[in-house]
Amino acid sequence: MTHRQDPWRALLAAASGDQVAARALGLSCGSDQRWRWSEPASSAEEDLWSVYLPFLPCAGSQGRSCIIGHLGQSLDGFIATQTGDSRFVTGPDNIIHLHRMRALADAVLVGAGTVAIDDPRLTTRLVPGPSPVRVVLDPEARVPTDRQLFTDGCAPTLLCRRPGSAQRFDDADVELVEVPAARGSAVGLDLAAVTAALRARGLSRLFVEGGGVTVSQFLQQGLLDRLQITVAPLIIGAGRRGLTLPATERLADALRPAHQRYPMGEDVLFDCDLRANRPLLASS
Ligand SMILES: NC(=O)c1ccc[n+]([C@@H]2O[C@H](COP(=O)([O-])OP(=O)(O)OC[C@H]3O[C@@H](n4cnc5c(N)ncnc54)[C@H](OP(=O)(O)O)[C@@H]3O)[C@@H](O)[C@H]2O)c1
Repeated sequence: MTHRQDPWRALLAAASGDQVAARALGLSCGSDQRWRWSEPASSAEEDLWSVYLPFLPCAGSQGRSCIIGHLGQSLDGFIATQTGDSRFVTGPDNIIHLHRMRALADAVLVGAGTVAIDDPRLTTRLVPGPSPVRVVLDPEARVPTDRQLFTDGCAPTLLCRRPGSAQRFDDADVELVEVPAARGSAVGLDLAAVTAALRARGLSRLFVEGGGVTVSQFLQQGLLDRLQITVAPLIIGAGRRGLTLPATERLADALRPAHQRYPMGEDVLFDCDLRANRPLLASS
């Protein structure tokens, strides 16, 4: 059995729409619009590259929306301690995975809580590949303006606000995007309007990187195509929750998504296909 040549370069070529280069590196998209490797995986490490295939655009489906959420959580379901310490719940292999997901995405999106507490850069500094546009949901303009993604100039940043925000940025790399409130909510932004505003800017492949409130809202509103949860062998006891959703009374009504499991260092990544179980919590 031969080895795949350079899987990461093949994935980057496919993400950039260069199907010829991707095919030359052993990755092609079939008539069923699914990407496949020409060589089967010869090890668990090689198999891990397949987690990125659903995020790639196929010929004729360029611009089709694909939204993937990720949370790295403890065995007891927390993504950070009560004080917000989350560096790092998951191990180094998962951090590399996050940078790869960013490199394949058009945009990476996080909530106000994550930017306020973590001050993340959301770049791809750990892997070869372009840094995506950064998107922050900050309806109330509460995130301090000195945060790195507003000042470092590493990639453009879109700040989603409700209409009428007085705050302004001098930096040309920061764009304010006014988004209407969700129906029946004075504050929560309409996430379908957020994703439509991103699509209008050519940002169709969206990686929702946290925190728990933000990923939960995307899930609850039926906007995620896939949900990746990486579970680390760690027990925090109490803290900031990963998913928080309306209660399910009967286990028969609980969501049991089709999924693949990928070992990732000491952690395990569950890659859930939410389109295979469409009715999910969207109506709640
Ligand atoms: N382990 C991980 O995978 C991971 C990943 C990211 C972050 N974290 C950690 O998680 C913590 C932050 O997570 P979090 O769940 O508390 O907060 P978060 O999801 O980062 O941010 C939540 C806030 O974002 C805004 N937001 C989210 N959805 C919105 C919507 N539909 N419309 C309008 N605004 C919306 C709201 O801001 P307003 O409150 O201003 O309305 C909301 O309170 C931090 O401690 C961070 O370190 C962990």
